[in-house]
Amino acid sequence: MTSPRRPGVPGASGTPRGVMPPPMAPPSHQVAQLYGPEFAADPHAVYERLRRYGALAPVEIAPEVGALLVTDYRAALDLLHDPVTWSKDSRTWQQTVPADSPIVGMLGWRPNVLFNDGEAHERYRQVITDSFDRIPPHELRALVVEAADALIADFGTAGEADLMRQYARRLPLMLFNRLFGMPDSYSDRLIQAIAGLLESNGPEEAAEANASFEGYVGELIGAKKQQRGPDITSWFMDHPAGLSDEEVVHQIVLTMGAGHEPTTNLIGNALARMLTDDRYYSTLSGGALTPRDAIADVLQNEPPMSNYSAHYPTRDVYFHGVWIRKGQLVLVSYAAASTQHGRTAAGTGGGATGSGGGAHLAWSAGPHSCPVQRSALLIATTAIERLTAWLSDIELTVEHDQLVYRPGPFHRALAQLPARFTPISIDHAGAAPWDSSNSSPSSSTPPAGTSTEKPTASARSAPQPS
Ligand code: HEM
Repeated sequence: MTSPRRPGVPGASGTPRGVMPPPMAPPSHQVAQLYGPEFAADPHAVYERLRRYGALAPVEIAPEVGALLVTDYRAALDLLHDPVTWSKDSRTWQQTVPADSPIVGMLGWRPNVLFNDGEAHERYRQVITDSFDRIPPHELRALVVEAADALIADFGTAGEADLMRQYARRLPLMLFNRLFGMPDSYSDRLIQAIAGLLESNGPEEAAEANASFEGYVGELIGAKKQQRGPDITSWFMDHPAGLSDEEVVHQIVLTMGAGHEPTTNLIGNALARMLTDDRYYSTLSGGALTPRDAIADVLQNEPPMSNYSAHYPTRDVYFHGVWIRKGQLVLVSYAAASTQHGRTAAGTGGGATGSGGGAHLAWSAGPHSCPVQRSALLIATTAIERLTAWLSDIELTVEHDQLVYRPGPFHRALAQLPARFTPISIDHAGAAPWDSSNSSPSSSTPPAGTSTEKPTASARSAPQPS
């Protein structure tokens, strides 16, 4: 066993700023970049290379911004379950990073649940979990069905769609607009603002999108101050934790931000698997795989958030073979840890059939693990069931290996998901896409011989009107 090395000067052996060199540290030009197109094209190849360093590896998450990435499952759990050694407070670290670094948006400190420890964290978290707990699952499901049907009605007649832009990205935001208490007429504003944040070309466009999002949240708060309603914003405001106005704004922004991107990616990545794997489209009696299987597969092999859980040690610490300096940025790779060893790798599809390792870190673990897992699963499952039930012959217009993913160190996010299907028109939201009692199409689907020729596994479990 090599003797532990004491912390030295960050960057001393050519590692990026803010990163202590681990054993076998590569020269800086060889440090894996998690933000470019190469990583987006094949992240698992990068994770494989990183495993050579042991449980943690040096990476760059933006130009000149280094981090240590935990790729080992056991080490990930040790870190995530030890809030004494590991803090989520990024304020000291942030001073080492240029203020205009693209990374600040995801890692810059704010007074919200994600960047606080101990009692402050618990207080914010309680507000969020209590509020989500107030939404009965059947009502949440009905809202998802309504949003899904409205979107499918919009593009269904065209016979083709980009399922990311026209479905997976819009649906969670339409839903949040409702859940947080705004009329549907506001949902396009929210969608535009978030799209602007995700797709901005340069700081000016990003600032515009940010202003637009802030404007939306400002109006939301204003409306709820005038009149409370049965919605998350009002529940945040009136929670016994007594959040200040500023704290309410920050929890809303965080919850919407933390919620929409991974939910979009969960829907997108699971749809991509379903539409390129025949096992999801075998006959009714063939024991076909369901949307739930596709989601389980994605959570195990291609988690929507691939690397996150930014932590900073509260003291110099020797951790799984590496000395880590107090305050140094350490990220957890949910994707690498969940596919380690016997666990399956992305693209194999093995997770859905039970050959995966079972346990995964797609929701993270410990005190900061996703507090809304049940709701998020219900949203994603319903969205996929609804889509595949209406569009039973849907297929991708490109091969799976031609799909393009958005670059970025934190997410596994499809850029587009182009698909075609037999055009349909939906008579009314909430209609049944498939009448399971007589296995015939509902009045809203086209005549037999078109989209309903081949009932799918998902059609069997099609959501029925509530
Ligand atoms: C309705 C949708 C969702 C909402 C409202 C939501 C909300 C949140 C919130 C508030 C946190 C911060 C918890 C804390 O710091 O204590 C969080 C953390 C997290 N969520 Fe979710 N989430 C949603 C969906 C998802 C999905 C679909 C995934 C991926 C499968 C996911 C993965 C995570 C992960 C990995 C964390 C930990 C982040 C970290 O510690 O850095 N979430 N989520």
